[in-house]
Amino acid sequence: MRFMPKFEKHIFICGNQRPAGNPRGCCDPSGQAKLQKLFKQKLAERGLKGRVRANQAGCLDQCEHGPNVVVYPAGVWYGYVTEADVDEIVESHIIGGKPVQRLMLADSCVNTAECEHRKGSGQRAVAGGQQSKHSGVQYVADN
Ligand code: FES
Ligand SMILES: [Zn+2]
Repeated sequence: MRFMPKFEKHIFICGNQRPAGNPRGCCDPSGQAKLQKLFKQKLAERGLKGRVRANQAGCLDQCEHGPNVVVYPAGVWYGYVTEADVDEIVESHIIGGKPVQRLMLADSCVNTAECEHRKGSGQRAVAGGQQSKHSGVQYVADN
């Protein structure tokens, strides 16, 4: 019996949609999964189909930093990801093994209610102290 090799990496792309005005915002307001489709296309172009999988995910509960993407098994979290970032994530991280620092979420942001963005301070930042270039795209929670 032949077995397929395991996937080396999984990229989970949040495709959650919420109604406009929801205080937590959402990662895919259009509901068109453009980001996930682009990852899938890029992986196929680079011959990674069957080795790396780009999965559409439901809410990853990091909404205030969206659009969010997480790469397993390493558990690298990216926030404020745009279509323009897909090439770099695939080339640098997926193929080159070097995560894209400028898009990585700070540990103080991931999965904690203490995250300043979640608490609604109005400041959005990613690791390395860079301000999100997408500020204003999504709502920031008031509580
Ligand atoms: S809507 Fe994407 S993490 Fe919640
Ligand atoms: Zn945060």
